[in-house]
Amino acid sequence: MRRFLIAGNWKMNLGPAETTTFFEEMKTLTADVSDGAEVLVCTPFVSLPAAVDAAAAIAGFKVGAQNMHFEDNGAYTGETSAAMLNELGCSYVILGHSERREYFGETDAIVGKKVVRALGADLTPVLCVGEVLAQRKANEQNDVVATQLKGALSGLTPDQIGRTVIAYEPVWAIGTGEVASPQQAQDMHQFIRSVLTELAGKDVADSVRVLYGGSMKPDNAEELLGQPDVDGGLIGGASMKAGSLFKIVEIANKLS
Ligand code: PGA
Repeated sequence: MRRFLIAGNWKMNLGPAETTTFFEEMKTLTADVSDGAEVLVCTPFVSLPAAVDAAAAIAGFKVGAQNMHFEDNGAYTGETSAAMLNELGCSYVILGHSERREYFGETDAIVGKKVVRALGADLTPVLCVGEVLAQRKANEQNDVVATQLKGALSGLTPDQIGRTVIAYEPVWAIGTGEVASPQQAQDMHQFIRSVLTELAGKDVADSVRVLYGGSMKPDNAEELLGQPDVDGGLIGGASMKAGSLFKIVEIANKLS
């Protein structure tokens, strides 16, 4: 049986009050997500305590952050460490999202340091990779993604790589309504596994969950999750309403 990972990425949306409302709605849909797909939402930092509290009422529902600093503590005004996220009850953290790379200057080297630190604090990193439209048009997507993966993961042991989740997010499909075709997703996911095989061996590469992200929603989730190398979704817009996130969870459960 496949165990999908369905992860919401709320970005800079849903403050604490809206987070509580989201979980009230989610609770009317399910009291237990511990069987079937693994489910989580990654909320803004300020909403994490509300999310962790409310998620406790739904068995198995997890909470993650969208970023963190690679140092444990120190003079880094405005930053949050892995240990702090762990203390709060987070189990996942998104790292290297294309919006962090584009608007906040995150490089593969920085993202790599964050991945190591997250693993050291028992957080599962969701490492995001993906090409922009011009790179896709120039057929450079494989080179771009291989460089991102190697740049972030080459200093890690196979065991560390095995505890990482990868999210393939073609930047041209994020928030645009345009979605990669199931075949484009499958081809890239297979390629990602070949790079992971180079870095950590086939067994690890086969066990790493590779998510698709970019305009996934209830009406396209089935064909994307139906691809053999797509192990789940990182979902922005469609994860902010409990009803639409839950529909994607139900699709994943049907395909398991
Ligand atoms: P989207 O965002 O589903 O709204 O396209 C996905 C993401 O950026 O993680």
